[in-house]
Amino acid sequence: MGYTPAEDRYKDKLENGFFRKCGDSGLMLPPLALGMWHNFGTHDDYENMKNMCFTAFDNGITHFDLANNYGPEPGSAEINTGKIIREEFGAHRDELVISTKAGYEMWDGPYGNWGSRKYLIASLDQSLKRMGLDYVDIFYHHRMDKDTPLEETMEALSQIVKSGKALYVGLSNYDGATLIKAEKILRDLHCPFIINQNKYSILDRTVEKNGLLTTSYELGKGVICFSPLAQGMLTDKYLKDIPADSRVVRDGRFLKVDNILNNREHLLQLNAIATEAGLKLSEMAICWLLNKPEVTTVLIGASRPEQIIANIEAYNKLPLFKEIEQSI
Ligand SMILES: NC(=O)c1ccc[n+]([C@@H]2O[C@H](COP(=O)([O-])OP(=O)(O)OC[C@H]3O[C@@H](n4cnc5c(N)ncnc54)[C@H](OP(=O)(O)O)[C@@H]3O)[C@@H](O)[C@H]2O)c1
Repeated sequence: MGYTPAEDRYKDKLENGFFRKCGDSGLMLPPLALGMWHNFGTHDDYENMKNMCFTAFDNGITHFDLANNYGPEPGSAEINTGKIIREEFGAHRDELVISTKAGYEMWDGPYGNWGSRKYLIASLDQSLKRMGLDYVDIFYHHRMDKDTPLEETMEALSQIVKSGKALYVGLSNYDGATLIKAEKILRDLHCPFIINQNKYSILDRTVEKNGLLTTSYELGKGVICFSPLAQGMLTDKYLKDIPADSRVVRDGRFLKVDNILNNREHLLQLNAIATEAGLKLSEMAICWLLNKPEVTTVLIGASRPEQIIANIEAYNKLPLFKEIEQSI
C-alpha cells in the first residue's frame, strides 16, 4: 500500500495564517520547509527519507528543497526525493512546491559550476531527469558568480521559466547590493523572481549586515532561511556532549567538533534565555526567525521524523514567543 496523506493536513491552516505569502507574489509557502541537503543521499536510509517526507506533508509542510549537488553522491538527493514524489506523492504533485538549484560544482570541466547560461540550463535538465519530474516550482541560482555577467545568469533564469521547466526563480547566497542589480534585470525580463534563500539564524546574522534582508523586503521578495538551527547547534543536543548519532559525528563535512566547542558558551547562554522563557532552544531559534516580517519560511533539515514534529511544535509556540519577546 502506498502513502495516504493525512486527511486533516490542511485543517484550519488556510484560514489561520499558517501559509504565508512569498513576498508580493501569489505563491503561499508554509512556515517550515524540509531541505534534503543531508540524510537523503546514496548511503542514507530510504524508509527514513520517505517517513520524513510523509511526516512533513501530513503536517502542512508542502515545500521540499533540493539542489543539484545534494547527496553525497551529488545528485542522489534528487534521485531519492524524485522517486518518493513520483511513487508516493504522484496524485499530490500539485500540492507540493519543489525547488532545486545550480551554482556549485556538479560535473567536471568548465561547464559544471558557477553561473553561465551553459551550466544553468544543462543542470536543470539533468535535475529534472534525476527527479523524473517535468518542472520544478522554484529554480535558484545557488551563489553569486563574479566572473559571469549578471545579465547572462539572469537571462538564463528567465529562459528557464519561459521554457516551462520552472515556475518561479530564486537567488541564493546573494548580498543586498547584487540583489538590487539582479532584481532590476529580472524585472525588465518579466521573470517571476520571488524568493531569496540565505543562511540566517540567531548564530549567523550576516544577512542583516550585508543588506540582503532589508533589500529583499523592500523589493517585495520572500526570504527562506537555511540552517535555522545552525545545523543542530541551536538545539539541546550539543549542550553537554557530542552524541554519536548527531550530524557532527555522522557527517563532519560542514559541521565540525570545533564549531560546537567554540560556540558552546554562547549556546549555553542562549539555552538559559530560552528556558527562562519556557521554550526549548530550538523553539526559540525557530520562533525568532518566524517572528520577523522579512522572513517567509524557515528551511529546516532533519535526520528523523520526530525532529520535524518537534519543529512544527516550535511553530505552534509562535504566539507565546510574540507575547514574551520583549523580555527575551
Ligand atoms: N542555499 C544554500 O546554499 C543552502 C546551504 C545549506 C542548506 N540549505 C538548505 O537548508 C536546509 C536545512 O539546512 P540544515 O540541515 O543546515 O538546517 P538546520 O535545521 O539548521 O539543521 C538540521 C539538523 O539539525 C538537527 N535537528 C533538526 N531539528 C532538530 C530538533 N528538533 N532537535 C534536535 N536536532 C534537530 C538534525 O541534525 P542531526 O543529524 O544531528 O540529528 C538536522 O539534520 C538544507 O537541507 C538545504 O535544503 C541551503
